[in-house]
Amino acid sequence: MSSRGNWGSRAGFILAAAGSAVGLGNIWRFPYITGKNGGALFVLIYIGCVIVLGLPVLLAEFSLGRATTRNPVGAFAAIRPNSIWHWTGYLGVITGVMILSFYSVVAGWTLGYCFKSLSGQFSGIDKGKALAMFGRFIASPWLQVLLLAIFMVLTIYIVIKGVAAGLERYSKILMPTLFLIMILLMVRSLTLPGAGKGLLFYLKPDFAKISGPVFLEAMGQAFFSLSLGMGTMLTYGSYLGKKENLVSSAAWVAALDTTIAILSGFIIFPALFSQNMEPGQGPGLVFNILPVIFARMPGGMWFGSLFFMLLAVAALTSTISILEVPVAFLIDEKKWTRRKASWLMGALAFAFGVPSALSGGGMKFFSSLPFFHIDFLSLWDKIWGNVALSVGAFFIAVFVAHVWKTANALDEITADGASFRLARLWVIAIKYVCPLLILVVLASQFF
Ligand code: TRP
Repeated sequence: MSSRGNWGSRAGFILAAAGSAVGLGNIWRFPYITGKNGGALFVLIYIGCVIVLGLPVLLAEFSLGRATTRNPVGAFAAIRPNSIWHWTGYLGVITGVMILSFYSVVAGWTLGYCFKSLSGQFSGIDKGKALAMFGRFIASPWLQVLLLAIFMVLTIYIVIKGVAAGLERYSKILMPTLFLIMILLMVRSLTLPGAGKGLLFYLKPDFAKISGPVFLEAMGQAFFSLSLGMGTMLTYGSYLGKKENLVSSAAWVAALDTTIAILSGFIIFPALFSQNMEPGQGPGLVFNILPVIFARMPGGMWFGSLFFMLLAVAALTSTISILEVPVAFLIDEKKWTRRKASWLMGALAFAFGVPSALSGGGMKFFSSLPFFHIDFLSLWDKIWGNVALSVGAFFIAVFVAHVWKTANALDEITADGASFRLARLWVIAIKYVCPLLILVVLASQFF
């Protein structure tokens, strides 16, 4: 185990797992998906998904990872050798590369917007100018590919430095700072004229809006935001000592993650409605409205730069956790060095990221093709960030509950005398509720 590396401390593990969970999924994806799906009702269903599906699967991944001390492919093979179960691990490895590809494009946007703020481009900006600025930005092919490359190299660099040194150190001071700036932004947004309409949209459910896609989007968002369904949390659990309490770690991670997501809604929607902007506009949503908020804040230029820099750091603590999955697979199963594995998988993710990087400009033709309708980035986000993760979470739940068996998982969860008062509920959730619900929601998409 020592050659695989280990977490430095208990707080280090929770920070790293929370660092993985908190990222663009909370601040970029949650508001854009919420806006697309009609607001408050979606938020309610989302919170339901976090509790009913997210928490149980999170605990399943932690325990399976720690029990086997393996990467996802190795973990399934360790418990059920010579079966096809390790394909769930391969699905996770592939999903990881694909999510990393488009995620790093958006992470590149945060770098770009950090520079835009620093160079004073937000000052005095209004809705029309903000929209035009983002439009021009994503339609600059070379800049987009360059930012993607920069972000990928940063990710590779940190993953090469290894588990404790690389993954833990960076999140300790920076994430609380991000949280503080978000509180400031929320106050500014809520005090803009006309902010109340945004609050209504965000908090007052309209039950007429219930539909199949809302459930799929909420479920996918819950898995995405908690880094579940492809073995990230499984891999992080595999670096964890037996003394740590899996139950409280899972509860902390889910609570922090959900708090940040809800908070970013309180920033985005009041401002959005105060400017009469369209909530369903898709992946550009947050980048279109934030400059308008900063322009209306004293010292907005500095807050803007700092915010986008910290958001880039939050994205980085997530991308390293995504890249860690394919890298741990190559290290454990193929005996590659960490350096070689990181460069290869990072390069693959870069290559697959190029179409997403170009989807705002050079690759617009995708959205005019009959099958695509949407730009490549949104398409990739939907396929890998939503459907593939849900499929992965389904197989993880079935495997832990019915192949490995809940008794063994509970032994792992309560190792070293940890108590687990809700064990009964967890068993019901992971055995029946999670697999059935995921299946029903996925199947409802096809009918
Ligand atoms: N959860 C992260 C976020 O919200 C992104 C992320 C990290 C992720 N690891 C993952 C998403 C694994 C899906 C699967 O930004």
